[in-house]
Amino acid sequence: MSVIEQKASQKAIDLENKYGAHNYHPLPVVLNRGEGVYVWDVDGKKYYDFLSAYSAVNQGHCHPKIVGAMNEQAQTLTLTSRAFYNDMLGKYEKFACEFFNFDKLLPMNTGAEAVETALKITRKWAYEKKGIAENDAEIVVCENNFHGRTTTIISFSNDETARKNFGPYTKGFIKIAYDDLEALEAQLKSNKNIAGFLVEPIQGEAGVYVPSEGYLSKAKALCEKYNVLFIADEVQTGIARTGKLLAVDHENVKPDILILGKALSGGAYPVSAVLADDAVMGVIKPGTHGSTFGGNPVAAAVAIAALSVVKEENLAENAEKLGSLFRSELNKYIENSTIVKLVRGKGLLNAIVINDSEESDTAWNICLKLRDNGLLAKPTHGNIIRFAPPLVMDKEQLLGCVSIIVKTLKDFEV
Ligand SMILES: Cc1ncc(COP(=O)(O)O)c(C=O)c1O
Repeated sequence: MSVIEQKASQKAIDLENKYGAHNYHPLPVVLNRGEGVYVWDVDGKKYYDFLSAYSAVNQGHCHPKIVGAMNEQAQTLTLTSRAFYNDMLGKYEKFACEFFNFDKLLPMNTGAEAVETALKITRKWAYEKKGIAENDAEIVVCENNFHGRTTTIISFSNDETARKNFGPYTKGFIKIAYDDLEALEAQLKSNKNIAGFLVEPIQGEAGVYVPSEGYLSKAKALCEKYNVLFIADEVQTGIARTGKLLAVDHENVKPDILILGKALSGGAYPVSAVLADDAVMGVIKPGTHGSTFGGNPVAAAVAIAALSVVKEENLAENAEKLGSLFRSELNKYIENSTIVKLVRGKGLLNAIVINDSEESDTAWNICLKLRDNGLLAKPTHGNIIRFAPPLVMDKEQLLGCVSIIVKTLKDFEV
């Protein structure tokens, strides 16, 4: 890195540090370009992106079809608010409803907003359809969940950093262990006020925890038995990431409420959505929920293009195939490794568990070294590194990435 360029990256970091709230702890690399599976830093150094903006960039950086749709719409009409109709929203709603097989879609912008929307719909459904007395509804959630950072969502988080000094917390949530059907049934059986069960089909932020086979389908069956809504948060797992269009598709589960975000736009624009059938979404009436930007014409055009790319480029099949290859290649290495304990995941949502404590900085140090070796990834905990490359990767690139990862890990063997 030349002195001038070193100054350029340091300058960018200094600006963020001085003028930005310190709500993140980024890996020290300053990016200014992306294309497909690659990103470049201000020094012109090329990296494999192995995070994909937390699975938002499934379709690859700056996908020409998505960027083209965004540019075209941005030059035509950007925002009407929902005070008026626009000629893109209905088109997008029809497209997405047919794509995911639901009656209706409610458009929002970020993942957390979509989760909030799903919680509101669930409560309203509980009072108006299930007959729970007003203000008594409860929603079952899982330990170690991650659903975003709003006041209500952190109210049922386990993450003390995310919660501390942000109280008072929103009531009405019951936490049970993840991947525990008995705990779920015990709650559903004993409590008539349960309106919904909110679950991540794989717990991404927690460290890519894949539940036991059959967990999702059995949990859905229990929800049906007790007339409770099954709410799938597929913000991170959805849109081909795990080798199927949705992670619930691995068990042929149709959620009562589906929450999407991130890759719904291919990372080009903040687009999120909640989908449900009429019996549930029907509780939403004018004035009950909304967002100035939700469902804007640019978001609609971008989402149609982003979903089309997923189908046209067979991204789910590619994620399934490359994901298996990735885990089998890493497993060969792990057999004789002292530094990595295991690799787990589905499709191209994977993580390695480092042989050190949660409080250690080993995973962080490995990520710094990966960066030096040309691959960007981020720890989810002190000893867990998530690996989630764009799904447009090919086999040769994936094997190149495995070489970088193995070479890097070797430096940390004791
Ligand atoms: C499962 C899940 N839900 C919700 C969110 C929140 O999305 P956003 O950061 O867009 O608000 C995330 C973000 O990582 C997530 O992984």
